[in-house]
Amino acid sequence: MEKKQILDMVAEYCREQHLAEEWKPGDRINYAGRVYDEEELCNLVDASLDFWLTAGKYTEEFETGLGRYLDVPYCSVVNSGSSANLLAMTALTSPLLKEKRVMPGDEVITVAAAFPTTVAPIVQCGAVPVFVDIAIPYYNIDASRLEEALSPRTKAVFLAHSLGNVFNLKAVKEFCTTHGLFLIEDNCDALGAEYKTDGKLEKSGTVGDIGTSSFYPAHHMTMGEGGAVYTKYPLLHRIVRSLRDWGRDCVCSGGQDNRCGHRFDGQYGTLPKGYDHKYVYSHLGYNLKVTDMQAAIGAAQLKKLPGFVEKRRANWNYLREHLEGLQDFFVLPEAEPGSDPSWFGFMLLVKEGAGKTRDQVTAYLEKHRIQTRALFAGNITRHPCFEALEEGKDYRVAGGLENTDTVMNRGFWVGVYPGMTKAMLDEMVLRIHESIR
Ligand SMILES: Cc1ncc(COP(=O)(O)O)c(C=O)c1O
Repeated sequence: MEKKQILDMVAEYCREQHLAEEWKPGDRINYAGRVYDEEELCNLVDASLDFWLTAGKYTEEFETGLGRYLDVPYCSVVNSGSSANLLAMTALTSPLLKEKRVMPGDEVITVAAAFPTTVAPIVQCGAVPVFVDIAIPYYNIDASRLEEALSPRTKAVFLAHSLGNVFNLKAVKEFCTTHGLFLIEDNCDALGAEYKTDGKLEKSGTVGDIGTSSFYPAHHMTMGEGGAVYTKYPLLHRIVRSLRDWGRDCVCSGGQDNRCGHRFDGQYGTLPKGYDHKYVYSHLGYNLKVTDMQAAIGAAQLKKLPGFVEKRRANWNYLREHLEGLQDFFVLPEAEPGSDPSWFGFMLLVKEGAGKTRDQVTAYLEKHRIQTRALFAGNITRHPCFEALEEGKDYRVAGGLENTDTVMNRGFWVGVYPGMTKAMLDEMVLRIHESIR
């Protein structure tokens, strides 16, 4: 039997069974959703028929393609955005970075209005997160407060581009350069966003030392579970690959032997000379790789990514324009100056004196089947996972977190994903107007 016969049937099955039904009034409007066609399903079946299972031809295609899209030379696919963040942070602790490495007790500047696994790797690596407040209506770090957070132990800044809005990369990058700090950009919610630095447009995630992505279904593109780590720097790339692939020193891919021709003649640590390089470990690593089936879906999604980003921008602009009249009730979101965001969601902050609370507004929207979301943890320091941590020792707060708490108490967001139709956007506009009146 020819593979093509099977794939033709898969394509037909997809068109018959997976074609999204047109949204009609009364249907649910989710904050996010997968957008795909037969190409993703055919790639998935193709990879499973190959039965290579672990990272293979599709993984290579995806890593090359994502690198090209972002204009970075080094890209590593991993099994989630959280794994990508763990790898990025752990990479900064590598002994290969010598005195620049992050050591236990060193500080990493971040925000508390965060997704939990942007902050968790800092603590998991034995470092101390230092929380800086965010700026409204951008929902990213208030860069004017960075200096306040600095201490002799500061080694890195680790921030997400919140809801697709690029943080003030110019100020943050300058701060990092001035003080010799690493910068990790959690780009999980902003893939495709652009930022003008020194007159040229650069993709978010590529301005700092390391960028990360998530390909969980809610994100800009998906492979089910998946993520990526990218960098311009060969040493950081080597460290990330080592940590991703069990901590090994050797760069041969799975199933490959002796690419460098020196498999049996090196001297490593206090091992006997010539010890098999495939089993030499330069880091205490993990296994955070993907299967080729995941990468196969990603390879098809990647071709659609530029269109997805444009649609997200158009949907966000539509909501922004049609909610303009509600400025007395809501703080409406703004793009960071100098950026062209790749929106993940549309953030609304219910004003004090709006006559309604955030909870009343979201209850109304949810009742009308419009999914709402909090800005992730709101304020991560207020969660049960922080109860065992001691302020001043395990984490620090630089200045106050007033805006962070305001967003936790009065903010919420709705979706702008590319599967949204004009009818869905109009329904959202209508219900948001009704919710506050
Ligand atoms: C900003 C941010 N970072 C990291 C992650 C974690 O990604 P994943 O769910 O793929 O682990 C998410 C998830 O939504 C996120 O929004």
